[in-house]
Amino acid sequence: MRTHYCGQVRAEDIGSTVTLFGWVDRRRDHGGVIFVDLRDRTGIVQIVSDPERTPASFGTADRLRNEYVVRITGTVTERPEASLNPKLPTGRVEIYADQIELLNAVRKQLPFQVSTAEAETVKEELRLRYRYLDLRRDRMAQNLTLRHSLIKAIRRFLEDEEHFMEVETPILTRATPEGARDYLVPSRVNPGEWFALPQSPQLFKQLLMVSGVDRYYQIARCFRDEDLRADRQPEFTQLDMEMSFLSQEEILDLNERLVCHLFKTVKGVDLPRPFPRLTYAEALDRYGSDKPDTRYGLELVNVSDLVVDSGFKVFSGAVKSGGLVKILPIPNGNDAISNVRIKPGGDLFKIATDAGAKGLAYIRVREGGTLDTIGAIKDNLTEEQKQAILDRTGAQPGHLLLFGAGPADVVNATLDRVRQAIAKELDLIPEGQFNLLWVTDFPMFEWNADEQRLEALHHPFTAPHPEDLDDLKTARAQAYDLVLNGYEVGGGSLRIYQPDVQQQVFSAIGLSEEESQDKFGFLLEAFEYGTPPHGGIAYGVDRLAMLLSGEESIRDTIAFPKTQQARCLLTAAPSGVDLKQLKELHVASTYQPKSKETEE
Ligand code: AMO
Repeated sequence: MRTHYCGQVRAEDIGSTVTLFGWVDRRRDHGGVIFVDLRDRTGIVQIVSDPERTPASFGTADRLRNEYVVRITGTVTERPEASLNPKLPTGRVEIYADQIELLNAVRKQLPFQVSTAEAETVKEELRLRYRYLDLRRDRMAQNLTLRHSLIKAIRRFLEDEEHFMEVETPILTRATPEGARDYLVPSRVNPGEWFALPQSPQLFKQLLMVSGVDRYYQIARCFRDEDLRADRQPEFTQLDMEMSFLSQEEILDLNERLVCHLFKTVKGVDLPRPFPRLTYAEALDRYGSDKPDTRYGLELVNVSDLVVDSGFKVFSGAVKSGGLVKILPIPNGNDAISNVRIKPGGDLFKIATDAGAKGLAYIRVREGGTLDTIGAIKDNLTEEQKQAILDRTGAQPGHLLLFGAGPADVVNATLDRVRQAIAKELDLIPEGQFNLLWVTDFPMFEWNADEQRLEALHHPFTAPHPEDLDDLKTARAQAYDLVLNGYEVGGGSLRIYQPDVQQQVFSAIGLSEEESQDKFGFLLEAFEYGTPPHGGIAYGVDRLAMLLSGEESIRDTIAFPKTQQARCLLTAAPSGVDLKQLKELHVASTYQPKSKETEE
């Protein structure tokens, strides 16, 4: 019988006999005495086997190698002064092994060293191929534990404090409109018909409000076939919530209390409340982003009105055609950032052009107030215009002012990316700080230039702002996102609960009555039978776990994630299937593998 987990043995246990199970993290032979670091998911403890003191275990101890699985019974002993290890929670003790039982050996060469002590930088591909070994490593074991504590704290708070009920919703369902591509599953028994995996439980949770569930939550798996990034996976986990009869203020308040509870329980951090708020318009104006990282300044300054009549066509033309001219002011930027980097071929120039900008105009403010700048600004801006720019940006000697000019979305995207890159480079991001922020009042719709139609920015069930009902196309939505250190960790809205408003929103995004009946008829029908006012939110659990554990990719907080190419390297999925299986499903593949010749 196990008496302790490895990471739990303490000085208070000195003198007692313990039994542990675990893996050999490392084995060392010190002049005939064998030291074994024994590991389980809670940590490491040092085992000693000595031919004099513990002769019964010595033979087995001598044969142990890394990652062998053992059972050890022994006496907890105080470590000699010289070998105390203050870095380990178990660092004051060691266990003299009376018995060591080898439960299983390693039969193949390990693809990489699992040992925390030998923490080498293992390629992610190899880690994912042998994920079960990777998860034994300290860092990953800690991430799994943190994720578990997070989900446990969510359940405790919502169920025990706030009367929420978890309800499971279907995985085989109809397409849900969250804006990504669907994963489809062919139906064998209904030839030619397909299920879609849910992009979120959105429609079901709204139906649950019609059912009177009142407060629903679910730790829900969602599936989106979209391009992957460090913070996106094709299948990911949401904390999904929906509530009846609450105002937006009440929903935000409940969620702030939830998030504070999670930070306190998981990290021991007290977050100040209420969380700051910015409207979508303010966030874009000040940061160029609807998910700004507010841990540092570097706020953007709009100077469109100051340059609209200037002789510099790039500036005046941008403003006159409905665009913007904005500045990213960088204190001490003159010393830190050379011209080479802002000009064609430079790294910052590339970041800007990748975001769609044509380049980065600049002004450098020198000691004594003289300006170094590109010729076009020197020649075409009047002294008053330049002075007005300096006044508005508050520029001091040493400041570098970077300009973005053009359509609003390009200018914002450009300066947002440059702002983030510079904050990292200049070390402006404080360690260990968690800045939470509500972004509210999103627009209902955005223009989809490819399809030449309006598209719901959140999703088409989001309620418009009551003041904006007259012109739905430009209306603000009663929608809110929760942003943490520049990541969107949650998003939600109040919902439409009247069938006629829902129909108007469908028609604004170009869905005819017939199409909306075909796609969402069941929801519109449900709304006819007494629907409570309701609203909700969903959090990205993987993203929250990533930020709480200080990781930079959600792959490090998911036990078995996919690669950037949406593959599982461990099981080699996706994979081909037998023709027989496809036939049964009434599916024929149109895919033609490229032959060697066409590839060449
Ligand atoms: P939304 O689409 O904003 O809202 O998703 C909610 C949160 O889920 C996380 N998220 C992702 N995490 C990892 N990989 C992905 N591919 C991914 N996509 C989204 C983000 C995001 O904030 N039904 C609505 C919620 C509602 O209105 O109640 C929804 O799904 O952290």
